[in-house]
Amino acid sequence: MNSIAVYSSKGGVGKTAAAVNLSYACSLKGKKTLLCDMDPQGAAGFYYRVKPKSNFNRKKFLKGNLRSFIRETDYPNLDLLPTHFSFRNLDLALDREGSGELKRIFAGLADDYDYLILDCPPNMTLLSENLIMAADTVVTPVVPSTLSILALAQLVKFFDKIKADRKKLHAFFSMVERRKKMHMDTIMRFGKKKIFLQTLVPYLADVEKMGITRQPVAATRPESPAAEAYDRLWLEIWKSQIRK
Ligand SMILES: Nc1ncnc2c1ncn2[C@@H]1O[C@H](COP(=O)(O)OP(=O)(O)OP(=O)(O)O)[C@@H](O)[C@H]1O
Ligand SMILES: [Mg+2]
Repeated sequence: MNSIAVYSSKGGVGKTAAAVNLSYACSLKGKKTLLCDMDPQGAAGFYYRVKPKSNFNRKKFLKGNLRSFIRETDYPNLDLLPTHFSFRNLDLALDREGSGELKRIFAGLADDYDYLILDCPPNMTLLSENLIMAADTVVTPVVPSTLSILALAQLVKFFDKIKADRKKLHAFFSMVERRKKMHMDTIMRFGKKKIFLQTLVPYLADVEKMGITRQPVAATRPESPAAEAYDRLWLEIWKSQIRK
């Protein structure tokens, strides 16, 4: 099983939109995919119309018996592990002595799925550290602005601090608005750096509309620029993994 964390310390940068659409793109390629909603806001579960079972909570998650709490989505090859409100304190319940606890928990699913995609909450805590350590690849959306580039530099430092392999970190520009000079300038200046994938995810109404359709964009508008962007992003991530 290959695991991909969609992570940023910044809120509202397109993590969940990417996790939802990348997991769908992955499932369309015939890969058995599990999307794991690690954010107690539960947006990924909302988009896929999946709720947690009533007896699910943080304690059960940490015990590692995830199979009975995984739900099917409306799509073949794609399951979802919903979040729970009690995940807001997941951080406090993690083992302080190391950052490998989540990796061990997810390892229990290794034979069930080809890909595990983690929708991470926006912060930089012990939970983030665990999620980064559990992932083979970390994908971070960057809205093209000065502060987001600063946040990316902080993330690289965070990787060094927790001794995570920097080579598994990939950034992509998210919510790109071509008419904004700041966006285009930032992409021109930083887009060629090795850390950046080349796919730009534009700011598109079809992505916003997922809140109404509650489906991935490629399910409602398969030929749309939004669906194409996430498909391209998926291929790029997939290729970056093959090169390793
Ligand atoms: N490419 C896009 N084009 C237009 N709107 C987008 C795009 N990506 C995300 N959005 C919208 O921006 C908002 C934030 O996106 P999203 O929830 O994916 O961000 P997030 O990083 O997961 O946020 P949080 O940190 O709160 O979890 C949502 O309303 C979403 O519909
Ligand atoms: Mg989110």
